Amino acid sequence: MVEPLKVGLAGLGTVGSAVVRMLGQSRDALTLRAGRPIELVAYASKDPPKDKGIDLGKAKKVSDPVALAKDPGIDVFVELMGGEGDPAKAAVEAALGQGRPVITANKALIAKHGVALAKLAEKNNAAFSFEAAVAGGIPVVKTLREGLGGARITRVYGILNGTCNYILTRMYKERLSFAACLKEAQRLGYAEADPSFDIGGFDTAHKLAILTSLAFGSEVDSEAIYVEGIETLSLADLEAADELGYRVKLLGVAQRTETGIEQRVHPTMVPKGSVIAEIDGVLNAVAIDSDMLGLTLVGPGAGGPATSSAVVADLVDLASGRRSLPFGRPAASLSKPKRAPMQRHEGGYYIRLAAVDRPGTMAIIAKGMAGENISLESIVQRHPGLRPHGGDDPKSAEGPAPVILITYATTEDAVRRALAAVEREGVLAEKPQVIRIEKS
Ligand code: HSE
Repeated sequence: MVEPLKVGLAGLGTVGSAVVRMLGQSRDALTLRAGRPIELVAYASKDPPKDKGIDLGKAKKVSDPVALAKDPGIDVFVELMGGEGDPAKAAVEAALGQGRPVITANKALIAKHGVALAKLAEKNNAAFSFEAAVAGGIPVVKTLREGLGGARITRVYGILNGTCNYILTRMYKERLSFAACLKEAQRLGYAEADPSFDIGGFDTAHKLAILTSLAFGSEVDSEAIYVEGIETLSLADLEAADELGYRVKLLGVAQRTETGIEQRVHPTMVPKGSVIAEIDGVLNAVAIDSDMLGLTLVGPGAGGPATSSAVVADLVDLASGRRSLPFGRPAASLSKPKRAPMQRHEGGYYIRLAAVDRPGTMAIIAKGMAGENISLESIVQRHPGLRPHGGDDPKSAEGPAPVILITYATTEDAVRRALAAVEREGVLAEKPQVIRIEKS
């Protein structure tokens, strides 16, 4: 009889519960794949299981996750508690420190301490895997670490937060409010415990930081990421983008530029018809450009079943003896990333202005843009109160006129300076809305 892989699991939330369920339901298939059974022998959870229907069998309950991580009765510690600090960090360090393999879905932990933990794992010859930390069920960590091991990657970008994509999709398709869509995402178990992590772009930033490191062989550098969330987007922007031939998505983008590695998270206009533009609902997508090929991976990025699939895939690798270094190369060899400043970002821009409706306003706007050498691809001005998809709002007929500009490629700096110049002239009734355009 082959010895089973004995699993100690900390955290029985949405993902932890789904892992327990999958280990039970797919036991025979997993045994075939792994060459031996994968068995839950102990668990730690401060709350009762999220999924009340799961069968914990004879697994022993341990009250302290750190004690579980050190338990000699387990072969692998699976950390599904989340959070960049303790107890997750202490427990992962305890396991790796003893040479015990660790599997985690904790993107915040990897984004903050990934390199130090990888060094600890390598020093103690322990496997350390985190496929589920990025884009839920999409095997993008393995793709970057192994599948594209021969290519020189130039850009990696995508939709990395299911909650935001779900909200933007439902707002756009059903003309629903932001708040109603967020509530539904929470009910479906997509959102983080604190949803400001999702909508503020920070969850995307954590995942992007990990992808950047895997793609460019550089140390994880989450501090360098420019982050904007989706809170300031209005239905008017989604509708205007639609009319101009774009969809609005929250993207994480990392690319090599002449000034260094650019990492940014912000609402982004992508041309309709591009693969990324068509990714709707809770789905995630990661596009990878390289010197040899380009590809896009699409799949569910959140929720119990998808994320548990990635955790269990890491368990199967471990049980069958397949092994990679955490970042696909020795952690000590990861380079110090050269940060490209956001002010130097180059690309097209969507700008929505609430212009005071009087003679000369348009001339002032045009002068502001010309002053920074910004060339305009399109200009749309509507009469006050006219909504982009038709229908008059008589209440606002006296108000400012929406002016929408699409620029040709320019720089972040130039756009900021041009808008500051226009604002100084007193012709804007609101702060300008700026959305960057990404070439696909
Ligand atoms: N809150 C995350 C999302 C879950 O919505 O994508 C997966 O990290």
